[in-house]
Amino acid sequence: MDAVIRVKGLTKQFGQLSVLRGIDCAVQASEVVCVIGPSGSGKSTFLRCLNGLEDASGGEVLVHGVPVHDPRTDVDALRSEIGMVFQRFNLFPH
Ligand SMILES: Nc1ncnc2c1ncn2[C@@H]1O[C@H](COP(=O)(O)OP(=O)(O)OP(=O)(O)O)[C@@H](O)[C@H]1O
Ligand SMILES: [Mg+2]
Repeated sequence: MDAVIRVKGLTKQFGQLSVLRGIDCAVQASEVVCVIGPSGSGKSTFLRCLNGLEDASGGEVLVHGVPVHDPRTDVDALRSEIGMVFQRFNLFPH
């Protein structure tokens, strides 16, 4: 069976800042993967690219074989299958 998440040569730049420089990885069903690295190294940017909250500068992200950044992809439907806890989730203070 193919990977649930497959990332191929993912790059992301913010202006001159190159944050993701050609990431390749695959996550299989039931696999637990931790992304670790210093503050500002691009962990959140990477996760945001996985569910299309961030556009990729280059490369490809496939979730269940569906290309996340393809304009023909129904990204809302895709996100209904992807859970995410935001780093700053801005809940009501009460
Ligand atoms: N929308 C944006 N515009 C410009 N630069 C950004 C943007 N989002 C993130 N960055 C920059 O990209 C780099 C990676 O940020 P990111 O938030 O992905 O890091 P992180 O590994 O999640 O850090 P932390 O451990 O502090 O959560 C940082 O230099 C950050 O300032
Ligand atoms: Mg972060």
